[in-house]
Amino acid sequence: MNLPSFSVEGRIVCITGASSGIGKALAGAFAVAGSRVVGVARRNIDGMAGVQADLSDLGATSATAEAVSSIYGAPDILINAAGLNPRKHADEVTLEEWTRTIDLNLNAPFFLAQALVEGMKVKGWGRIINIASLQSERAFPSGAAYGASKGGVAQLTRAMAEAWSSAGVTANAIAPGFFPTELTSKVFDDPQRAAQNAAQTCIGRNGRLEDLVGPAFFLSSPASDYVTGQILFVDGGYTAK
Ligand SMILES: NC(=O)c1ccc[n+]([C@@H]2O[C@H](COP(=O)([O-])OP(=O)(O)OC[C@H]3O[C@@H](n4cnc5c(N)ncnc54)[C@H](OP(=O)(O)O)[C@@H]3O)[C@@H](O)[C@H]2O)c1
Repeated sequence: MNLPSFSVEGRIVCITGASSGIGKALAGAFAVAGSRVVGVARRNIDGMAGVQADLSDLGATSATAEAVSSIYGAPDILINAAGLNPRKHADEVTLEEWTRTIDLNLNAPFFLAQALVEGMKVKGWGRIINIASLQSERAFPSGAAYGASKGGVAQLTRAMAEAWSSAGVTANAIAPGFFPTELTSKVFDDPQRAAQNAAQTCIGRNGRLEDLVGPAFFLSSPASDYVTGQILFVDGGYTAK
């Protein structure tokens, strides 16, 4: 029996949200592992090829996909990590905040994947990894827009798998627990809240960005060839308790 390969060396990887937090950490890890990484964000992306784009502008998605593919060629792997959380109570969330959240967190991953999947199909191999959330499964305070988008991401992942896996392109999601990033600064700035979240896990601590690298490599490599349409919770057992 041949042992499976967990290698991502030489792969062309597009990572959205690569200017900060989870996307930035994954971009750095894939680069160290020998992938050719193209990051996408509004801000400049240090240390690797980047495309500056506002992904919530859905009319610009095709141009963004073309700009990404013009750097190293068609990506083998797309990681949709750009996201926002307006953290507004359901009574107060505005139409503009709702629309921006759904556009960036749910609509952009779909339309960017739709634009890039053709190149993966030509190769007969590809990987799409969406970033879901605890809020794909659970309601949190002030999470109506974010939770709706992340619930959508979970189902979108299954729908992508249904549509594209037979062409060799798998689609899965990673659902992180609590990881310290710009997005979660309010949570981590409150030591009591951070400790409560840590206590809710089975492992007893919040996430470290490097905890996401192994799962991302697994879902990006031949080792996960028969895994598709799945949501992998990397949450220290938060949802198990
Ligand atoms: N941190 C956690 O504990 C956690 C838990 C569950 C899920 N997640 C998910 O993980 C993903 C990454 O979050 P994070 O925690 O790493 O947050 P972060 O540090 O705030 O990073 C968000 C990234 O999204 C990019 N972005 C935001 N708006 C954009 C836009 N309009 N167009 C293009 N890029 C945009 C940002 O880049 P620019 O500002 O440069 O555009 C940044 O690179 C999100 O989908 C989030 O929902 C995070």
